[in-house]
Amino acid sequence: MVHQEAMPLLTPTKLGQFELSHRVVLAPLTRCRSYRNVPQPHAAVYYSQRATKGGLLIAEATGVSATAQGYPDTPGIWTQEQVEAWKPIVDAVHRKGGIFFCQIWHVGRVSTNEFQPDGQAPISSTDKQISLNPELGIACSKPRRLLTEEIPGIVDDFRRAARNAVEAGFDGVEIHGAHGYLLEQFMKDSANDRTDEYGGSLENRCRFAVEVVDAIVHEVGAHRVGIRLSPFVDFMDCVDSDPMALGNYMIQQLNKHEGFLYCHMVEARMAIVDGRRHIPHRLLPFRKAFNGTFIAAGGYDKEEGNKAVAEGYTDLVAYGRLFLANPDLPKRFLLDASLNKYERSTFYTQDPVVGYTDYPFLPEDKSNNDQSPAHA
Ligand SMILES: Cc1cc2nc3c(=O)[nH]c(=O)nc-3n(C[C@H](O)[C@H](O)[C@H](O)COP(=O)(O)O)c2cc1C
Repeated sequence: MVHQEAMPLLTPTKLGQFELSHRVVLAPLTRCRSYRNVPQPHAAVYYSQRATKGGLLIAEATGVSATAQGYPDTPGIWTQEQVEAWKPIVDAVHRKGGIFFCQIWHVGRVSTNEFQPDGQAPISSTDKQISLNPELGIACSKPRRLLTEEIPGIVDDFRRAARNAVEAGFDGVEIHGAHGYLLEQFMKDSANDRTDEYGGSLENRCRFAVEVVDAIVHEVGAHRVGIRLSPFVDFMDCVDSDPMALGNYMIQQLNKHEGFLYCHMVEARMAIVDGRRHIPHRLLPFRKAFNGTFIAAGGYDKEEGNKAVAEGYTDLVAYGRLFLANPDLPKRFLLDASLNKYERSTFYTQDPVVGYTDYPFLPEDKSNNDQSPAHA
């Protein structure tokens, strides 16, 4: 008999108080199907399809306030109606034994007047406009630079959103500090041209993000809080001249909170080396410096994920597009099964089924297939 070693991605581990049965995480994925910013019942189908006993799911970016949106029909968590609408979705994931975190965000200047209350200008660290949201292919509006005295109010929106997420039943929150949205617009020096205490030095540029972290930790406890950061990514015109220093500074701030749960980092864009995708693997110093659980994301397949876990590069690996298209991804990894291909044209469309809950499970998986909605 051939003895098969357990696949590194499918070995158990702990995430603070949570017992994980494997390390394949659902990355946060904006899906634009929460009409009028209210999560819908079809999200319960979608997330429970991807839930496994002891598996970690991170919900799509969820707005902290009425000014937080820049994409059509993204969910919010600032009204009671939204909190109530999340509850059955969270329940559906918990019934399958999943651990469910809510990613909370504010898009800042990655928005247009149409997404804003009363057609106002989107808010940001700056009044510098970015030309295009490449995900949607639409132009962004000119933002309005936040006044210094307005910033505590935005921090408070994040705090309240975290409280609401816990009330909705989520196991915790992930602060969206990546990809050129509001927190990064403050953190990175290409986007922050402020002259007050929120601009200039690294410490000043990180002040807003650190205040958000501190407020949320104080509100719901460090054991329920993670953050997503992308120091090397240059998305939405947010670039930093010294990403190592930025990442290190943020890790130091997170480590000040005993038990801060996780740091989730996105790698830079893939390079192609010898005709093969190549993950730059520049996150190791951050992983080593951080006291909590580390999650890496960005371009991983099964092989790269196993390697990253086996080599101690990361504790967990978050999968975006592969998990979007393969609701039973951990099982496919286990069985070395082939994968469904993702359909980019339906990433951000509003259909409650197509490109959302209709990606097939492995045929023999009766129990999961029964979860799928009946549709032609
Ligand atoms: C359709 C789509 C929506 C996304 N939405 C979010 C989001 O809401 N929050 C976030 O932090 N990242 C978001 N991302 C980035 C993913 O979480 C992930 O980091 C990225 O897809 C790279 O991982 P992958 O190569 O495994 O897909 C999104 C990506 C896609 C394809």
